[in-house]
Amino acid sequence: MDVWKVISEGYNEQDAVDCGNRFLIGNGFVGIRGTLEEYRKDKQAACTLAGVYDKAENQTWREPVNIPNGFYAHIENPGEIESHTQCLDIKTGVHSRITEYKRAVLTIERFANMACVNTICQKITVIPKCAEVTLKCGIDSDVWDINGPHLMDLRAQGGEVISVSARTYEQDIPISVSERCDQTGYETVTENNSVYRVFKISEPFTVKRIIVINAGNEGVHENCGETLEGHTAVYESVAGTYDEMLEAHTAVWAKLWENSAVILKGDDEAQLALNYSLYHLHSIAPRHADNLSIAARGLSGQTYKGAVFWDTEIFLMPFFMYTEPETAKKLINYRIKTIDGAMKKAEEYGFKGAFYAWESQDGGAEGCTDFNVIDVFTERPVRTSFRDKQIHISGDIVYALLKYARWTGDNKIFDYGGIDLICACADFYKSRAYCRVGEKELEFPDVVGPDEYHERVDNNAFTNRIADLTLNYAKNRYKVRKPRLRDGIIEQFDGYFDLEDASLETVRSRLKHKREYWGTQSGVAFATQIIKQADVLAMMNLFPEDYTKEDFEKNWFYYEPRTEHGSSLSACMYALGACRFGRADLAYPMFLKSARADLDGGGKSWAGNVFIGGTHPASAGGAYMIVTQGFAGLKQEDNSLTLNPCLPKEIESIEFPVIFRGEKYKIKVTQNTSEIERVNNV
Ligand code: BGC
Repeated sequence: MDVWKVISEGYNEQDAVDCGNRFLIGNGFVGIRGTLEEYRKDKQAACTLAGVYDKAENQTWREPVNIPNGFYAHIENPGEIESHTQCLDIKTGVHSRITEYKRAVLTIERFANMACVNTICQKITVIPKCAEVTLKCGIDSDVWDINGPHLMDLRAQGGEVISVSARTYEQDIPISVSERCDQTGYETVTENNSVYRVFKISEPFTVKRIIVINAGNEGVHENCGETLEGHTAVYESVAGTYDEMLEAHTAVWAKLWENSAVILKGDDEAQLALNYSLYHLHSIAPRHADNLSIAARGLSGQTYKGAVFWDTEIFLMPFFMYTEPETAKKLINYRIKTIDGAMKKAEEYGFKGAFYAWESQDGGAEGCTDFNVIDVFTERPVRTSFRDKQIHISGDIVYALLKYARWTGDNKIFDYGGIDLICACADFYKSRAYCRVGEKELEFPDVVGPDEYHERVDNNAFTNRIADLTLNYAKNRYKVRKPRLRDGIIEQFDGYFDLEDASLETVRSRLKHKREYWGTQSGVAFATQIIKQADVLAMMNLFPEDYTKEDFEKNWFYYEPRTEHGSSLSACMYALGACRFGRADLAYPMFLKSARADLDGGGKSWAGNVFIGGTHPASAGGAYMIVTQGFAGLKQEDNSLTLNPCLPKEIESIEFPVIFRGEKYKIKVTQNTSEIERVNNV
C-alpha cells in the first residue's frame, strides 16, 4: 500500500461531492475542491479564497467567496469513458487524473503552489485516438455558490493572458483570475463571463498553465489589475515556469513533512489516514497572512460560512504548536487582532469585555445567526442559541493562548495583546456570571456547552471549568461552581441526570425525517440524556490533571453510549479519554474514524435543511492529538516533556518530531519503550 497516495479507480458521477472533499488541494490562500476539471457548479466545483467574505444581495449572512475556476478543461465529444483514475499525492500536494475516453486519453496534473500562494498550476496532456480532438481549457465562472452570487461586474478577456475579473457585491473587493500558457495555436472564446482557449489536437499534446489569483484585500499582490494590461502586470510579477514552480512547491512540502511526519510502524492503514489528515492541515494553514485563522470546513467551500470556530483553538492548535509554532502564533494572533469584534459582541448583549464570535468571520465579526437551522418539516428557520449562549468560546481561546505560551515559551505574546485578551475574556465572564443570594460561588446559567443538542442549560461543566480558568488566570479569586457528581460521574449540566435515559437507538427511532435536527427544544435529543458530542470528556481531556484514571474510566463508560457522535469533533475526545485509562483498544477505532473522516466521506451533510458538508479539519487535528497525546502520551511538565505510551496492538511503534521551546525533539515509543531525543536547534 502506498501510504502517501489517495487513489480512486473508475468513474462514478455520484461520487462527485465526496471526491470534491477527498481530493482537495490548497495552500492556505486558496482551496480547490477535488472535482474533475470539466465539472461546474452542479457538481460543487469551487475555488475558495481564505478570508474573503461577501454577503450577496438580500441574503442574511456572509460566506467566503468562490472565484472563477482557472483549472477548467474538457475535451469536446470525447466518447465513452473506458478507464478513469484520480490520484492525490499527499506528500507533494499534487492532484492528477487520467481518463481514457474512446477518442482520446486525457491526463491532467494540478497543484496549488505552496511556494507562491496566489498561483495555481496545471499541466494537461491529450493523446488523440482519432484524427482530431478539441480541448477547451480556461477560466470558468460557473462555480458553486450557496448564497451567492457574490461576484459583480464579471469581465472575461482573451489574449496572451486570459482573465476574468470581478468585484464582490458587499465590499467591492476586486478579484481576478488570470492565466498564461506555454502553447500557441489556439482560438480564444469568451462566453458567459468565462474565457477559454480552444486547441485542435491531432497528435500528442501538452499545455502547461499558470494561473494567478488576486484578491484586493488579501495583502498578497494587491495590485489586482482591472484592465488587460493590469492583469498582465500582475501576471508578470509571478515569475517561473510550470516545472520551476513544481520544484519550488515540492520543496516547501518536503520541509513541512520534515517537521511534522509521524511514522506509525506496522500499520499502513493508520499511516495513510494520518498522513492524509496532516496533509489537510498543511493545505489550509494561512502561513501567508497575519490576519487569518482556519475555518471549520477548511478551504473546501462555503459551508459553515467559512467561519472560524473553537475547532481551531481546541483541535488544531496542538498540531501547529508541535510542528509549526510560527503558524500556531498566527492563529493566536488572529484572535488578538479580532478582539474588537468580540468586544462589540459583548456590548451588544449588555456584557463587559470580550465575547468572541461563535462563528468568526473577517475582523472577528459574528457570522452565526439566531436562526442557524432550517426545520425540515416546516422549512422555517429555527431559533438556535449557538450565537448568544455558547459562551465557552472566549475561554477556549484563553486556554489555547496559555497552552501556546507554555509550550513555546513565547511569553512576549502576553505583551502583544495576550494579557489584554485574557483580561477582556475574564471581564466578560465576570459580567455574565450569576451569584445566588447568600452564596459565594459563581454560576453560569442559560448556556450551550459543546453538546449542542441541549441548549440553554445551567452550569454546563465544560463551560464553568473554562470560565474558571479564565477568571482565575491571574489570581485565584473567583470560585466557579462545580457540577454535581453521582458515583464519580460528572453531571454535564444541572438536571442532566434527571432527563430521560433513553438509548441512542430509541431516540434515533423517534426521528420522523432523516435530515431532522436532533437539537433545539423540539428535537428528539433535548429531553433525553443523548448528547451530540463529547462534552464532559472534552473538559476532562483539557484538564487531565484534575482527574484520576478511574474518573476517566467511569465517565467514559457513562457518556460514550449516550453520545451520538453527531459532530466529527467527538470521536477524538473519547479516544484521548480511553488512552488515559489504558484502553488503546477502545481508542483505536475512534482514531481511524477521526483520521479517515474525509477519506471515507459520508459524514453528516445536513443540519435540518442547511448544507454542512465539506472537509473536517478538526477531526484531522483530533487524529494527530490521539497519536501524540494519547497513544504516545506526550505531556509537558513545565520545562520538559514526558511520555506515557498506550499503544494499540496494531501499531508497532510511533515516531515523530516536535518543536518544543525552540528546539527540535524526536519522540519514539514502542510497545515497551519510550524515548525523547533532542535533535538540533530549529
Ligand atoms: C459542532 C461544533 C463545531 C462545529 C464546526 C458543530 O457541528 O457541534 O462543536 O464547532 O460543528 O465544526
